[in-house]
Amino acid sequence: MTRIAVLGAGKIGEALLAGLLAAGRTPDELVFTERHPERAAELTARHGVAAVDVPTAAERSDIVVVAVKPQDIVPVLAELAPALREGTLVVSLCAGLPTSLFEGALPAGTPVVRVMPNTPMLVGEAMSAISPGTHATEDQLAAVEKLLASVGRVVRVPESQQDAVTALSGSGPAYFFFLVEAMIDAGILLGLPRAVAADLIVQSAFGAARMLRESNDHPVILREAVTSPAGTTIAAIRELEKHGVRAALIAAIEAARDRSVELGRAAARP
Ligand SMILES: NC(=O)c1ccc[n+]([C@@H]2O[C@H](COP(=O)([O-])OP(=O)(O)OC[C@H]3O[C@@H](n4cnc5c(N)ncnc54)[C@H](OP(=O)(O)O)[C@@H]3O)[C@@H](O)[C@H]2O)c1
Repeated sequence: MTRIAVLGAGKIGEALLAGLLAAGRTPDELVFTERHPERAAELTARHGVAAVDVPTAAERSDIVVVAVKPQDIVPVLAELAPALREGTLVVSLCAGLPTSLFEGALPAGTPVVRVMPNTPMLVGEAMSAISPGTHATEDQLAAVEKLLASVGRVVRVPESQQDAVTALSGSGPAYFFFLVEAMIDAGILLGLPRAVAADLIVQSAFGAARMLRESNDHPVILREAVTSPAGTTIAAIRELEKHGVRAALIAAIEAARDRSVELGRAAARP
């Protein structure tokens, strides 16, 4: 039995706890820490998992998952460091924070794995990218892969690619939400009731995502299949190209990557 502690059970931390339980872990394999006692009690009532303090979490666990906001990391690591048992694996879900920051604050030789998840973890459909720190072994990386596979899909990337991952899949759901919002507005402009427009677009997004994943076809092939000569789709595509939507997406994702680099640098400053 691998005992897991989640430090900071906010949106992502709670999603991970819920996902692990849904995947068959029992509440006694899990613990979490939270700053606010009311929130802790609420989570225990909802999931049956015990809230503990950081030293107890470290003492009882084989894997400690850190899921606090990057700006809260320093006090959490200061509390964790003296309590950590030798060989305990530390998994960071904190956007932008390098494994070296954890390795510098925790006892020498602590194995660390950095993860960039995303919010679809809430529905068991996360996309997580994982990178080992200096001391994490192949077995430990595989254990993290298995852990996260119960709440979505997992890829391994070198840590140098984590800023690009953050920009693509970490922030990615927000771009799709933005597109859906704009398409619902278009439906309203065309005279459809909001609820009908929302149904049409959300189901189309869901269907398109399943086709992309299940067919494995390149998006161009799937798009060409609905783009008939002199038809409606090509009229829309011409407008998208005229308004530079492709270039806008590329620039937006590049800006997100640059911001991730900047945040990582700020967090690494003493
Ligand atoms: N949400 C996303 O889309 C997303 C995607 C990828 C990665 N992440 C990463 O996941 C991490 C968590 O994000 P989130 O969106 O879940 O944030 P969140 O909802 O704010 O969750 C963080 C939780 O940690 C608690 N906390 C802070 N300091 C603590 C301490 N010393 N001891 C115990 N608990 C403490 C916070 O309590 P308070 O309410 O008191 O602050 C909060 O409940 C972040 O590092 C973020 O970069 C998030």
